[in-house]
Amino acid sequence: MGELYSGLSWVSKARKGLDMDVLEAIKGRRTIRKFKKDPIAQEQLDEIFEAAMWAPSHGNTQPWEFVVVGPKARARLLAMVQTKVDELLAAPDVPEPKRKGLLSLRDDFGGAPYMVAVVSRPGVEPLEIVENPECTSAAVQNMCLAAWARGIGAIWLSVGAAPPSRGILQIQEGAQVIALLALGYPDFVPPPPARESYKTHIRSVE
Ligand SMILES: Cc1cc2nc3c(=O)[nH]c(=O)nc-3n(C[C@H](O)[C@H](O)[C@H](O)COP(=O)(O)O)c2cc1C
Repeated sequence: MGELYSGLSWVSKARKGLDMDVLEAIKGRRTIRKFKKDPIAQEQLDEIFEAAMWAPSHGNTQPWEFVVVGPKARARLLAMVQTKVDELLAAPDVPEPKRKGLLSLRDDFGGAPYMVAVVSRPGVEPLEIVENPECTSAAVQNMCLAAWARGIGAIWLSVGAAPPSRGILQIQEGAQVIALLALGYPDFVPPPPARESYKTHIRSVE
């Protein structure tokens, strides 16, 4: 990865509106755990939500919904995260970068100015039951990449999948929280975690 596309220098180029190739966005995107306070302009949020709508979906059904997280829900989700982080940090051998990231999340989701849950609608047909979450995952990744292309970072938080989140986010029967995202301008961009070679993830069938 070249210097131009790594770390904060890469983000600031994107913020200045330089074009970003899709592959550069895919590889350059990082999970952000510490955010600046600056709010995200509505225009940019619109672009991020629009990007979700352009994800592929079976029969172009677009089977997802967005739940914007307000202060009461946020506080309840944060309490869950704090419990989990405390549990994880009780282990003796947490590596320093991970400890830093966890502590930052524990502190009001790293100060992210915006949070949204992306929810797949309940399926009726067997295919929908399987594919609605798949389509919604594609929409989530579109959002993360569109955000990154505008210099906005995101974290996809596992707490969204924890059962108590359903009540907090008022999720209807059969719907599934695919992602809880916290978004904002990155205050710290971690180095890219290594990836395995695709060659260790591939096989053929006759
Ligand atoms: C479904 C899902 C849940 C995740 N949950 C968390 C989380 O709760 N806390 C966290 O710090 N990172 C979480 N992540 C981010 C991963 O840790 C991160 O994507 C991975 O380490 C690779 O780093 P990168 O996104 O910067 O390439 C989650 C990612 C996904 C896709």
